[in-house]
Amino acid sequence: MKITSAAFIKGVTHVPGMIPPKLPHVAFIGRSNVGKSSTINSITKMDGLAKTSSFPGKTKEINIFLINEKFYLIDLPGYGFAKVSLEERAKLQSLINSYLFNSSYEQSRVVMIIDAVVGPTADDMEMLQALEQHGKQIVIAANKIDKIKSSEYHKQMKKIHDKIGRYLVIPYSTKTKKGLGELIDAIVG
Ligand code: GTP
Ligand code: MG
Repeated sequence: MKITSAAFIKGVTHVPGMIPPKLPHVAFIGRSNVGKSSTINSITKMDGLAKTSSFPGKTKEINIFLINEKFYLIDLPGYGFAKVSLEERAKLQSLINSYLFNSSYEQSRVVMIIDAVVGPTADDMEMLQALEQHGKQIVIAANKIDKIKSSEYHKQMKKIHDKIGRYLVIPYSTKTKKGLGELIDAIVG
């Protein structure tokens, strides 16, 4: 499937009733600053659709985008960012949990973005376990592969696969667009 249209619908801080329950959802989840919002821009080919920043903690609401007038892309705030106050972190975590685990909304896919340079962290593993327990269809994009030296690439990918190879892991870069076709297929195919 091709992505032919994408539009920002709204940002919400409250889950119940956030959008009429008509269309399927594809949710983007991951640590702060891994490139969730950038990935949404790259797959829709619309720079600036989702707001990005080099400072972690940019997305503070659940942002909803309508794709092809057929499904919603859901850009979630990042988890695990230590520099945000404890109170703010708890608020964001509860917003994420309330959407993913305590709402009537169902996701046809949950796309977890990890940082390919860092690999899956303890926070990522915890989130994966929760997603699995709730029966989510998980796709993982290992983003920022442009930052890995080519001499290190295979070693780094093996490290990632050793930890989370039971899921579909797509090496990805929003900068070079490597992996774009595979990611779009995994999300909407
Ligand atoms: P929060 O909303 O804070 O949770 O962050 P996010 O996961 O939405 O990250 P965002 O898309 O805002 O990107 C964070 C930073 O990573 C920005 O400076 C992006 O330019 C950069 N970035 C995103 N994707 C890539 C990539 O593939 N390669 C490189 N080198 N940088 C990237
Ligand atoms: Mg973001």
